[in-house]
Amino acid sequence: MFFAKNRNLKKYVDGIYPITNACKNDKNINKVNGTIGSLYNEENVIVAYKTVYQALRNLSNENIASYASGSFGNKDYNDAISNYVLEDRINNYRTIPTPGGTGAINMAINMCLEKGDSIILPEVAWGNYKNIALEYDLNVLTYDIYDLDSLLILLDKLDKIFIVINSPCQNPCGLSYTFEQWKRIVDYLNNCNKEAIILNDVAYMDYSYNQNYKDYFELFNHLNNNVLILIAYSCSKAFSFYGVRLGSLFVIHNDKIFLDDFINQCARRARATYSNVNNGAMKTIVELLNNHYEEYISEKDYYISLLKKRSNIFINECKDNGLDIYPYNEGFFVTLKFDDNNIRDEAFEKLFKEHLYFIKMNKGIRVGICAIPIKDIYGLAKRIKSIISG
Ligand SMILES: Cc1ncc(COP(=O)(O)O)c(C=O)c1O
Repeated sequence: MFFAKNRNLKKYVDGIYPITNACKNDKNINKVNGTIGSLYNEENVIVAYKTVYQALRNLSNENIASYASGSFGNKDYNDAISNYVLEDRINNYRTIPTPGGTGAINMAINMCLEKGDSIILPEVAWGNYKNIALEYDLNVLTYDIYDLDSLLILLDKLDKIFIVINSPCQNPCGLSYTFEQWKRIVDYLNNCNKEAIILNDVAYMDYSYNQNYKDYFELFNHLNNNVLILIAYSCSKAFSFYGVRLGSLFVIHNDKIFLDDFINQCARRARATYSNVNNGAMKTIVELLNNHYEEYISEKDYYISLLKKRSNIFINECKDNGLDIYPYNEGFFVTLKFDDNNIRDEAFEKLFKEHLYFIKMNKGIRVGICAIPIKDIYGLAKRIKSIISG
C-alpha cells in the first residue's frame, strides 16, 4: 500500500553500521577497528584537514546561509575543482556539482541507463553500486578487475556498454590500472562500434602513491564519438568532507553541443531531486584551492605517507604469514581474498569473536587500514592468519 507500483520493495539492509556499532560497544583492549572507511590519524580520531576547516570558518555566515547560484553549480567552484581534478589535461568536458561522489554516480546512471539495461560492476566492489543499480532495476553484470581478457570478452556480448571502473585506489582491493591497462580498455571501446560509457569512479584518487596517477586522462582526449567518459569525483576523502556532501560529475566527449545538452539534463534532474548543492562547501573549496593550495597539499601529503607506511607494514606481514590478499597498489583498504563466500563467512565470524572487526565484501574481507594506527597494524596479519586457520 501507498508505494508506487514500480517501487522495488526489496528490504534495504545496511551491512556496515551493525558491525561498526558492535565494534564501538566492545570494551576489549585488544580490539581492532578495521571497519571504518574514513581516514583516521594515529590517535584514532578522524582526520579533518585544518586548511579545509580554516577556509570554511573564514566564510561569512551569509555565504553559508545563501543558496548556491543554481543547479548548474557556482562557476568559481566548477572552475576550481576542474583545475584541481583535471589539471588542464582534458580538452572537451563539462562539469556539474553533485551531493558527494554518490550523487555523481547516481546522476551518471540516471542519465544513461533505464530499467533492464546492463551495468558492469567490479565483482569485488563498493556495495553501494549494487544498491543504486537496484533502484534503477538494472541488470548487474560483474567483471574480475584483475582479468581484462575476460572483461573484453564480456563487453563483446553487449549491445550497449556501461562499465564502472573504480581506479585508481579501488575500494576495496586497492588496485590502480596502469596507463597500458587503461589504453587497452579505451582502445577496445573506441573500436567496438557501439555506445560505450565508462563511469570512472575516482573517489580515492587523491591518495595515490604514484606521481603519474593522472596520466591516463590523456587517453580521454582520443575518443571516438561512440565513447562517453563520466568521471565521478568525491570531495569526501580528498577534503575530509564526508558529512558535508559535495562532489562533481565530469562529462567528457568530442562533441561540445552534446556536452552542453548532457549537463543541461543533469541540471534539470538536480533541480528536481536535491535542487542544488551546499553553497558553503563550494565556497570553501574555492577559497582553499585558490588561496591555500600549497598548505593543503602538504597537509594531505603527510597522510598519504602515513597510509603508505600502514599499507607497507600490513602487506609485508601478509606475505610473511601467507595471508591471501587481493593484489594491492594503493588506497584506503586492503582486502583478504576468499574464493568461497561460505569460507569467508566462517573467517569473518572467527575474527569477530576475537575482537577483530572488518567489513564483509563479496569474496573478501576488507581491512580499513585508513583508520588503523600503526601500532595495531604490526602483528595484525599474524593474528588474522592464526585466528582464521584455527
Ligand atoms: C568507491 C566509492 N565510490 C564513491 C564513494 C562515494 O563517496 P561520497 O558519496 O561519500 O562522496 C565511496 C564512499 O565511500 C566509495 O567508497
